[in-house]
Parts: sequence; structure tokens; C-alpha cells
Amino acid sequence: MEPKIRIDNIQVVYPGRGRTGPVEAVGGVSLDVADGELVCVVGPSGCGKTTLLRVLADLEQPTSGQITLRRDNPARPLKATVFQGGGIFPWMTVEQNVAYGLQLQGVSPAQRIATARHWIGEIGLERFAHAYPTQLSGGMQQRVGLARAFAFDAEVLLMDEPFGALDAQTRLLLQQTLLQQWERSSKTVMFVTHSIEEALTLGDRVCVMSARPGRLLHEVQVPFARPRDAVALRTDARFSALFAEIWGVLRTEVDRARADEVGA
Ligand SMILES: Nc1ncnc2c1ncn2[C@@H]1O[C@H](COP(=O)(O)OP(=O)(O)O)[C@@H](O)[C@H]1O
Ligand SMILES: [Mg+2]
Repeated sequence: MEPKIRIDNIQVVYPGRGRTGPVEAVGGVSLDVADGELVCVVGPSGCGKTTLLRVLADLEQPTSGQITLRRDNPARPLKATVFQGGGIFPWMTVEQNVAYGLQLQGVSPAQRIATARHWIGEIGLERFAHAYPTQLSGGMQQRVGLARAFAFDAEVLLMDEPFGALDAQTRLLLQQTLLQQWERSSKTVMFVTHSIEEALTLGDRVCVMSARPGRLLHEVQVPFARPRDAVALRTDARFSALFAEIWGVLRTEVDRARADEVGA
């Protein structure tokens, strides 16, 4: 079976600005993602994770290489993105935010509201359906971003550190929400995170990127059965073994990225 996402030798070089020369952010990444697979990408800060996801989302043109996203259902949107902070509109209520993508798809107003209410219920924000984002905590705003992506019901979900700014408890709860929703759907997900724990909790597979220019260095198949419980996994001996394996690779890259930052 053809992969759902094919990333074929993607390289991204940002042109230099002023005194700085060009920056090679992504240095030739190839990766196939199967239909319905949840792949997590971890890597040190500045290694090109966001850039790679932006290429997949069509927000950035690669310098070379090719991306193929296979469309299977012409009636559904192909991809949806969730970025850090939720990316929700401050001038819209929770309900309007969640319904927004459906409007773009030409769904009738009544159906939009019904679908939005369903997803608002799923993320436990019924009481806030008519509130504005500024009235919500960061964690609640992030839940709205998730609900909007699920309501949009795209075939491919591209997520860039969506839980990065949250406190540890909220993060665990949202990981659990994502697991439940994903396990019920047939979506293909690319999930970027700097957290090894998060990658192991969510992913079928974890891909480790090198320091900039980002390349794929290592890959781990995550053996935990589904449905998964984000909390129970932490006490599984395989979890700590895989954590150590990934950290073993990542550590050198984090050191390299930091040396690069201070100009060593
Ligand atoms: N628009 C841009 N112009 C120039 N350099 C950029 C731009 N966006 C990102 N970069 C640089 O590219 C590298 C990779 O950035 P990014 O993809 O955001 O990494 P990550 O998400 O892994 O932290 C960094 O060194 C960053 O400073
Ligand atoms: Mg990033």
C-alpha cells in the first residue's frame, strides 16, 4: 500500500538576511507515513521540526525534494494543522472557532452548530461554548484548537508542539483526549514534540531528528497496545528503556544545537 504521506528528501534553506548567511533548516529528510499511523518527531530546538511541518502544510516551499499526501476521500479536507497556542481566533466564541473550518467546507449553519457542539462536549467545554478565548485558560484554548481540528475532520492532522506550553497535568489530560479521539478515527497524524515522553505516549513510531540541518537519525517502533492510557504507560518498563534509547541519540544532538546557538 502506498504511504499516506511521502516525504522525499526534503531540504529547506532559508535565504540569508543582512549579515547572516543562508540557514539550512532541514537537510534532506525522507519519511513515509502509513495510512492511519501516528508518527511523532522529536529533535532539539531549532532542528527544523516546524519547518518540516510547514512544508507538509504547504506554508513553506522546500528548496528541494518532494512531498506527497494521498487524498482518499474527496468529500473530506485533506489536512488540518494544530500549532502551539491552539491558533484560535480571539474575536470568535469557542463555538464559532470550532465551527469555523466547517463553514469553509460549505456545511449548513445548523449542521455546523451541531458538529461544533458535539466536539465542544468531547473536550468538556460545554459551559464555555459562548465564551471568548481571552476568558479561557491556556489549556482550555488548546482544547478548543483540538476540537476545531477534530471537527474539521481532515484525513491528515499536522500538529506542532500543540501541548508544549501547558502545565504537566493539563498536558497529560490533553494527551489522553488526543489518544481517545485518534484511536476512534482513522486519521494519519504527524506530531512534532520536544518531549520524548509525549512521543512515546502518543506515537506508533518515534523519529529522532539531528541538530540543524535536521535529518532523521533514528527511529523507534512503539510497542504499547492500544487503547493506551497516558498515565499507566509511565510505569511500563519498556517505556523507560525506550526513553533511554531515544535520549541516548538525542543528547548528542541537543549538545550540538546548544553549541551552535552560542556560536562555538
Ligand atoms: N523564516 C525563517 N527565515 C530564516 N531562518 C528561519 C526561518 N524560520 C526558521 N528559521 C531557522 O531555521 C531553523 C529551524 O527552525 P524551526 O523549523 O523553527 O526549528 P524547530 O521547530 O525544530 O525548533 C532555526 O535555526 C531557525 O532559526
Ligand atoms: Mg518548532
